[in-house]
Amino acid sequence: MDGSIISRRRILQAGAVATVAGFVPTRFAIGNTAKVKVGLMLPYSGTYAGLGEAITNGIKMALAEQGGKLGGREIQFVALDDESDPAKAPENATKLATGEKVDFLLGTVHSGVAMGMVKVTRETGTITIIPNAGANVATGPMCAPNIFRTSFSNWQTTWPLGKVAYDRGHRNIVTMTWKYAAGEEMIGAFEENFQKQGGKIAKQILVPFPNVEFQANLTEIASLKPDAVMVFFAGAGALKFVKDYAAAGLKSIPLMGPGFLTDGVLAGQGEAAEGVLTTLHYADGLETAENVRFRTAYTSTYNKPADVYAVQGYDAGQVMLKAMAAVKGDTTDRAALIAAIEKAEIKSPRGPFRFSKAHNPIQDIYLRQVKGGKEMVLGVAEKDVTDPAKGCKAV
Ligand code: BEZ
Repeated sequence: MDGSIISRRRILQAGAVATVAGFVPTRFAIGNTAKVKVGLMLPYSGTYAGLGEAITNGIKMALAEQGGKLGGREIQFVALDDESDPAKAPENATKLATGEKVDFLLGTVHSGVAMGMVKVTRETGTITIIPNAGANVATGPMCAPNIFRTSFSNWQTTWPLGKVAYDRGHRNIVTMTWKYAAGEEMIGAFEENFQKQGGKIAKQILVPFPNVEFQANLTEIASLKPDAVMVFFAGAGALKFVKDYAAAGLKSIPLMGPGFLTDGVLAGQGEAAEGVLTTLHYADGLETAENVRFRTAYTSTYNKPADVYAVQGYDAGQVMLKAMAAVKGDTTDRAALIAAIEKAEIKSPRGPFRFSKAHNPIQDIYLRQVKGGKEMVLGVAEKDVTDPAKGCKAV
C-alpha cells in the first residue's frame, strides 16, 4: 500500500522535473505505471458458458506467452457474466466502459448482446474487440473506428456453404435455427447463396433461444423428406441437437451448418456427429506450425482441447499485444491504438488474417467433416472471404 503511494509521488516529482526541463506530459507517465484494465464481457453461465470460458482461456494464454504484460504494464482483468441476455447488455457494457473505465473491452459471444454492447462503446470510444459474436451490424451499419472483431461475421461463416451444398447435389433443403440474429443471419446467407445456385428451401424452422426441445421439429423434418438439413446451434444447444437428430433416425439425411455445430462439443456428441459437414474459419486439424503449437500449448495449460472460441480469444490477446507494443503502453492515445490494430497482421492458428476496412477479419473459410470422431479439413470452401460490410460508413 505504502509502496504504491511512494512510487506515485516519485512519478509526480519526476514529472515536475521533466516539465521544468521542457519535457512535456506527466499524464502518460502516471497512466503508464497503472495496470491496464481489460474488461471481459462474456457468458459464464447458461448455454454459452463453455464458449465464454474457452475465449477467456485463449486471451489469457496469449498474454501469458508474452510475459503477462501489455506494453510493459501489468494487467487487471474485470470479468462480468453477461448471461447471453441482450436486455442486460447496455447496462453491463456501461458498467465496464464508464464505471470501470476499462482500456479494452473484450466481448461477447451472443449477437444480440453484442448489439447492445457496441451501441454503448460507439459512444464511449472504448477500444472494443469482439472475440465471437457474429452480428453483421457490428461491422456493418454499427461499425465504428474503435470496434474490431477477431472472429467472423455471421454472413461469412455460411455464405460459402450454400454453393458447397448445391455442388454436392442437394436441391431441397430444410434450414433450422434459434430465432435471433446469429442464426437468422447464418441461415439467411446460406439460403441466399443456395437459392442463387438454383436450390430450394423446403422450410425454414425457427425456435426460441435457448430452447433445446427439438422433438416436434425433428418429426416435421422427417415428414418433409429434404435432401439435406442445414442448421445453426452452438454450445449446449449444438451438443443436444446433433444427438437428438441421430436418435430421431435422421442420419440418412445429410446434416450441415456453420462449424459451431460441432466445435467444442464434438467429444460429447460422439458417434452422432459422424459425417456432419460444416464450414468455418478454423478447423482443429489444420496442420500449420501455428495451429499445432497452439493446440499443444492449450491442452497442456488447460487440460482440454482447444476449439474455435479459444482461437478467437487467443487472437484478441494477440491484437492487444500488438497494439500496446506499438504505443509503448500509452493507452491515452486511442487514435494510435486504433491505427496499430488496423495495420496488424495476425498469425492466427486459423491461418494469417488482417482486418477489413470495417474491422472484420478477411479470412479463408474451411470445409470440414467429422470422420472417425475427428474434425477433418476437406479443403478451403472459399478463400479470403470478406464480409460485404453493408451500411458501414463510420470507418
Ligand atoms: C452469436 O450469437 O453470434 C454466436 C453464438 C455462438 C456461436 C456463434 C455465434
